[in-house]
Amino acid sequence: MADNTQTAEPASKIDLPAGQGGGGGAIPSFEVTAKIARFDPENDSEPHWEEYRVQMHGTDRVLDVLHKIKWEIDGSLSFRRSCAHGVCGSDAMRINGRNRLACKTLLKDFQKSATDPVEITVEAIKGLPLEKDLIVDMEPFFQSYREIMPFLITSGQEPTKERYQSQADRAIFDDTTKCILCASCTSSCPVFWTDGQYFGPAAIVNAHRFIFDSRDEGGDMRLEVLNDREGVWRCRTTFNCTDACPRGIQVTKAIAEVKQALLTRTLA
Ligand code: SF4
Ligand code: FES
Repeated sequence: MADNTQTAEPASKIDLPAGQGGGGGAIPSFEVTAKIARFDPENDSEPHWEEYRVQMHGTDRVLDVLHKIKWEIDGSLSFRRSCAHGVCGSDAMRINGRNRLACKTLLKDFQKSATDPVEITVEAIKGLPLEKDLIVDMEPFFQSYREIMPFLITSGQEPTKERYQSQADRAIFDDTTKCILCASCTSSCPVFWTDGQYFGPAAIVNAHRFIFDSRDEGGDMRLEVLNDREGVWRCRTTFNCTDACPRGIQVTKAIAEVKQALLTRTLA
């Protein structure tokens, strides 16, 4: 079995000369024990844990641990990431039992003092088909997203310039414009775990973004879609989605507002 312990200086440490902003004191390093759920579809029938030990610094994130393992210990470790700065939404994973973005999860948040060793567990998000290691098939997630028609629907009277909207009208759906489609909310929802047909919080959040847009005319069509047996009424208001959202979106509140719109609007 490969030696999963790494003792060299972390690649993420940058030593600046004193004249260029360095010399302010070394960033403390500490040992990280990472238990990662590995799954190779060609050889495994189910995931198993593998443990890795790496030296990291207080400025590092869980994504840096994964990079270090992949680049210096085991190149077969598979995970998605793109921007590394909390924008693209591609590296949602279950870290210490909770959905988070690996690129926004600082190791020091698991420490009491700066040199304490850190133990983390990292697994793929739940409720979507596992493909390899930390990678799941996102297609069912995006299928629900497509079904709520996430684009502006208008008819006639094409404006010659932009479509005007007051600041107050824009503010009504401001929160739900922040979604980065990471799936942290949907894959933390117990209803979604047990019933993969449920639209899930992310699709409802993105429907909300257009249903409450004063320029859009497709609200009733989206509400009809979400009035389905697998739609918004499956929500059990557990707040897992709101807790999981890395963008701080009030997901449960948005779902409640869509339910309210269904109750107060007359569907065509
Ligand atoms: S609502 Fe939040 S948790 Fe859900 S997909 Fe969008 S950004 Fe991710
Ligand atoms: S890598 Fe883009 S959000 Fe984390």
